[in-house]
Amino acid sequence: MLAIENLRVVYHDVISVLNGISLTVQEGEILVIIGANGAGKTTLLRAVAGMIDFYDGDIIEGDIKVEGTSIKGLDATDIMKRHGLTYVMEDRPVFWYLTIEENLGAASFSRWDKKVKADMEAVYDYFPALGAMRHKKAGYASGGEQQMLAIGMALMTKPKILLLDEPSLGLAPLITEELFRIIKQLNDTGISIVLVEQNAHAALEIGTRGYVIELGRIVLEGKAKDLINNKDVREFYLGSGEKERKSYRDAKRYKRRKRWL
Ligand SMILES: Nc1ncnc2c1ncn2[C@@H]1O[C@H](COP(=O)(O)OP(=O)(O)OP(=O)(O)O)[C@@H](O)[C@H]1O
Ligand SMILES: [Mg+2]
Repeated sequence: MLAIENLRVVYHDVISVLNGISLTVQEGEILVIIGANGAGKTTLLRAVAGMIDFYDGDIIEGDIKVEGTSIKGLDATDIMKRHGLTYVMEDRPVFWYLTIEENLGAASFSRWDKKVKADMEAVYDYFPALGAMRHKKAGYASGGEQQMLAIGMALMTKPKILLLDEPSLGLAPLITEELFRIIKQLNDTGISIVLVEQNAHAALEIGTRGYVIELGRIVLEGKAKDLINNKDVREFYLGSGEKERKSYRDAKRYKRRKRWL
């Protein structure tokens, strides 16, 4: 469905961040990408979604294909509209001064069909909290509700492939659980998902396959189930190297002390 071939990305012509990444996303799967801070996860999603030039970055080598057709160099709207690939950025971009419903309307900017209202209702079915506050300004929504809105806005573009950048960031465990349950439901409707997550355990639990990225390179790949049980992944990303299941923050600190082998 999506194929990334030997992708190299630099920022400002000199800072090399992706050093030859190749990966594939099969139709209908949830592909999980994990990696430490600064590994290049967000850069990868920006490059795929056609947004790398907004950040003064360039794809200097490699290719990105959706169903066999190269999308390299296309702009983000084209990629979304013509190739069905939509990216939900890590900072939950919603319009604070618009209501929830107006945000969903704004996300439908590229659509001319008459099903927008029905699709908004479908978003409210997935996220009842949004339905209940549809006429409230998004700026008053909680972090979790804003994340749901950002995903809801992406759904209004009718994606075939959805790229999610750390959707659980800063959310309480119960909200994260709910969010991942809904991501799985969306996937069950046939949307292929690329899920970048620091919350590696929760992500791998709903994931099909996963890749571990370090310093702009893939260092490990496998079935999600196998990665959960992989010794290095457990040690570095699940924080269970010393005692079982420490907090993620501890895992991060631990990672800094020890380098990936
Ligand atoms: N616009 C930019 N200009 C220069 N360097 C950048 C830019 N954006 C990111 N970088 C650098 O590229 C590297 C990878 O960043 P990226 O945001 O892709 O990592 P990440 O894996 O998403 O990290 P995190 O887990 O913190 O979100 C980092 O060293 C970062 O400082
Ligand atoms: Mg990131």
